[in-house]
Amino acid sequence: MSETHNILDVENINVSYGHLQVVWDVSFSVGKSKVVALLGLNGAGKTTILKTIAGLIRPQSGSVGFLGQDITKLPTHMLAERGLSFISEERNLFISMTVEENLTLGAYSVKRKDKIHENLRAVYDLFPRLKERSKQLAGTMSGGERQMLAIARGLMSNPRMIMLDEPSMGLSPQNVRVVFETIKMLREQGVTTLIVEQNVNTTLEFADRAYVIDQGRVVMEGTSSEVRADNRIRKLYLGEE
Ligand SMILES: Nc1ncnc2c1ncn2[C@@H]1O[C@H](COP(=O)(O)OP(=O)(O)OP(=O)(O)O)[C@@H](O)[C@H]1O
Ligand SMILES: [Mg+2]
Repeated sequence: MSETHNILDVENINVSYGHLQVVWDVSFSVGKSKVVALLGLNGAGKTTILKTIAGLIRPQSGSVGFLGQDITKLPTHMLAERGLSFISEERNLFISMTVEENLTLGAYSVKRKDKIHENLRAVYDLFPRLKERSKQLAGTMSGGERQMLAIARGLMSNPRMIMLDEPSMGLSPQNVRVVFETIKMLREQGVTTLIVEQNVNTTLEFADRAYVIDQGRVVMEGTSSEVRADNRIRKLYLGEE
């Protein structure tokens, strides 16, 4: 696996919940500084794939390589140190803590205090709203603000790659743009993104490549324009007319 030029290599993973297998022989790669999307209908297995990469679920077989190293059996808390950040659908904020406390907790893998302050400044530059609200309790932030906070917290550990599970869910069209513009800016800074989205059109506008998942299998992969141009795929697997 050390030969790889990719940041992430998922190879033939099979994942089950109890006796129910929901991911079948899924393989895909993510190149450095790319934005790669996993698309598919509800229940296709997208979140399960992200959780497996993040070490929250163990695959029965197959492997996950990150920066050329096998991370399949690595506990989740060790991934931040390696540069992988998972921003889950649940957003997992500490609602009775302030915005700034949540952000600081995101930097738990960063040992140097000056570095934490530097990262805090950087995410405040990215999301000025969070700076204005630094002392507000996370639980009283609006849905859009909470999503920004979740992304900002995921950036506090200096990730090489972020995984986002439906970041645009519940956001206004304007905030959806903010999220995607942020991903674009991060790519320019060399941060790689693996994104799961229902918002197919906007995602394909920003992503370099996409993998279409159906019933736990990869049914198509290609550049965003290839996926966009495939009417059959869009109709069958992306819920479009
Ligand atoms: N903890 C669990 N226990 C049992 N089955 C589960 C569990 N989590 C997910 N599943 C099942 O696994 C399948 C894949 O679910 P998953 O959440 O990965 O899909 P998804 O593609 O993320 O869907 P959505 O777009 O609705 O978020 C579904 O059939 C789901 O019911
Ligand atoms: Mg999901």
